[in-house]
Amino acid sequence: INTHNTSMWHYWAYFAKGIGYTLFITIVSIAIGILIGGLLAFGRLAKNKVVRGLALVYIEFVRGTPLMIQIMFVYFGIGLWVNIPALVAGVIAVSLNSAAYVAEIIRSGLNAIDAGQTEASRSLGLSQRDTMRYIVLPQALKNIWPALGNEFISLIKESSIVSIIGVTDLIYQLKVVQSATYKGVAPIFVAMVIYFIMTFSLSKLLNYVERKMQHA
Ligand code: ARG
Repeated sequence: INTHNTSMWHYWAYFAKGIGYTLFITIVSIAIGILIGGLLAFGRLAKNKVVRGLALVYIEFVRGTPLMIQIMFVYFGIGLWVNIPALVAGVIAVSLNSAAYVAEIIRSGLNAIDAGQTEASRSLGLSQRDTMRYIVLPQALKNIWPALGNEFISLIKESSIVSIIGVTDLIYQLKVVQSATYKGVAPIFVAMVIYFIMTFSLSKLLNYVERKMQHA
């Protein structure tokens, strides 16, 4: 007789824990990703050739290799010197990965602003820095915000790969529930629906904020 409780509801705490980890990694990583991504974007536009080159190489390399291998590289690479918790390695890797994507979002947002805006501003006597700060950036932000929202949604899904180094996110928890219930598919389905609820509600929320911003 199977004496295990095989109801998915019985294991809600596991799923809840997984959701917590998944959201934690996503939120921390998007925040760090925006900070570093912003620096990279300006690095890409810098006057100094070396700075431009380094930013370009970083962005291309990170976007040109799988997040999965980056996560393993950070975890086992840092592990050669010090043992860090898998969660910390996961957050570092996802943040550094997202930074490259964010850099391109910011760069293309800035590029989309007509050169006439800069020319007009400069001819009115604003410095290059003030032109960026008061003329270009505020306009670019209208395109950048929605794209950053999409990156946030991507990270909810993409962060699932941290489970390969043992971070106890939603994917990891679904495996725990599989083992406890001997049910192969039900925990997968539950986790899948949870992912969808997270991404769908976030995208609705972002659309709402976006509409508000457009009227402002
Ligand atoms: N799945 C793709 C990869 O492994 C994308 C990873 C991250 N995407 C992102 N928007 N930060 O390379």
